[in-house]
Amino acid sequence: MKHLDEWESDLQSRYPKPTSNTDKLEVNGDRNCNGEPHKTREAFRDYDAEARSSVKDFYRLNHQFQTYDFVQQKRNQYLSLTQRRMGIWEAMEYLNTLVDDSDPDTDLSQIEHLLQTAESIRADGHPDWFVLTGLIHDLGKILCLMGEPQWAVVGDTFPVGCQYAKSIVYYDFFKQNPDWHHPVYSTERGIYRERIGLDQIIMSWGHDEYLYHVVKNHLPIEALYMIRYHSFYAAHRENEYRRFFNAKDEHYFPWVQRFNEYDLYSKSDQRPNVEELKPYYESLIQQYFPSTLAW
Ligand SMILES: [Fe+2]
Ligand SMILES: [Fe+2]
Repeated sequence: MKHLDEWESDLQSRYPKPTSNTDKLEVNGDRNCNGEPHKTREAFRDYDAEARSSVKDFYRLNHQFQTYDFVQQKRNQYLSLTQRRMGIWEAMEYLNTLVDDSDPDTDLSQIEHLLQTAESIRADGHPDWFVLTGLIHDLGKILCLMGEPQWAVVGDTFPVGCQYAKSIVYYDFFKQNPDWHHPVYSTERGIYRERIGLDQIIMSWGHDEYLYHVVKNHLPIEALYMIRYHSFYAAHRENEYRRFFNAKDEHYFPWVQRFNEYDLYSKSDQRPNVEELKPYYESLIQQYFPSTLAW
């Protein structure tokens, strides 16, 4: 993919906003502050064939190389959190240094996506920890700045160590994954038992799991579910892997679905004013986080 947003455009295409809902992006009139029309639901679906084929290539790599052993190796490498120390806002600015091929005139920066997500959660009157979750949910993408390839940072996540769900996008590419032929990992339950709890499931490596470990001592459990599973589309959109849910997961997982609405559908051409919003968000960050965290 030329840039990380292609995966997210693809998600909007796969999961267009239901037409029965009120479209929040259209309620402020027909035009944004630049005089351009607000994005319609159709516009979210409208991306070119070139993007589609590069997303396909992306999933080919992701599905081939996200083996159980690869994930364990990345967990050992990163989950001791010894890469660096940074505050939350500092991490947002660091993520924004990600130089990719996106068009700065039309594509939102990473910081703008985070602020748009947070602002739309705030506009709906949700609790401050929910707003804060919107603000930070993609900070794990700094893995790209630590040398990780895109297929090990973004993309749908899924359990490793057991059979892949057929509804996972580009399922056939899993046939190239060595685990496809593994005597245990290829079985329905794999190394897990029923109702073992999501906490015990090893997910494919990416920005969700990494950020969860960075922030897990500082946010309510609902927020941690949202952060840890927001790319687990097979579960939160396709209802797969329910056999592994325990009572706690049944209770908290709906928060992941609630969060996904904001992650996918808050994107608009109306760019947030970063400097204007910064004081509000810095004080929100201070309520929950120490000045620096281990990453
Ligand atoms: Fe994300
Ligand atoms: Fe996001």
